[in-house]
Amino acid sequence: MIFDTHAHYDDDRFDGDRDRLFNEYFPHSGVCGVITCGTDEQSCQKAVDLAEKYPNVYAAVGIYPENTENGVNIEKLRSLSNHEKVKAIGEIGLEYHYEGVPHDIQKREFERQILLANELCLPVIVHNREAHNDTLEILKRTKPRGVIHCFSGSVEVAKEILKLDMYIGLGGAVTFKNARVPVEAARYVPLDRLVLETDAPYMSPVPHRGERCDSVMIKYVAERIAKIKQVSVEEILEMTEKNARKLFNIR
Ligand code: NI
Repeated sequence: MIFDTHAHYDDDRFDGDRDRLFNEYFPHSGVCGVITCGTDEQSCQKAVDLAEKYPNVYAAVGIYPENTENGVNIEKLRSLSNHEKVKAIGEIGLEYHYEGVPHDIQKREFERQILLANELCLPVIVHNREAHNDTLEILKRTKPRGVIHCFSGSVEVAKEILKLDMYIGLGGAVTFKNARVPVEAARYVPLDRLVLETDAPYMSPVPHRGERCDSVMIKYVAERIAKIKQVSVEEILEMTEKNARKLFNIR
């Protein structure tokens, strides 16, 4: 069974066939759980609406680093989190690849959202792009439960994340031809700390690069990780589903 711990099903690329995906395609293709993540207030509300509409869909609410310029409305996130199918605060974190929101604002708003998650006893879903040192510094200080999504760090960074009792999320990037860093991470991270994700509609794995991604494509990620770790695909899917249910408190 496939548990996709990170997707963006509010994206308008799903407007034409969202019902068909969630009501037919996913149930028939072994998708047993999806976390759809908000990135701004509007998409957070949409994530909650989707979780309410479809079984096996859960929401994460949070403000993406590039949307934190004017400060995060914590009260709004708190009230959205009141819904029983909101299982995490995310997607939050630090984005240093693009010259957008100043780093001090990103860090401040990341930390404010972590503190909300800690207060609500929810895990965080963390975006970290080219910001390993600052991300680690904040996580060490605030100690949330959670996952580093689309993990892109070295084995050294993975080691620090595991020390914090957090999970590592791997997706399409492990299947890319030039994937050295994520493959090393996949080899290093123990199976009880791994979760799978798509970041749909982005990050389609080989052999679907360039197409719209959806949760069923996780099977290619699982196959690749199974090869790297020399275990069966079934074991990868079973363990990562178990991990996801534990992390997000979903039965
Ligand atoms: Ni994402």
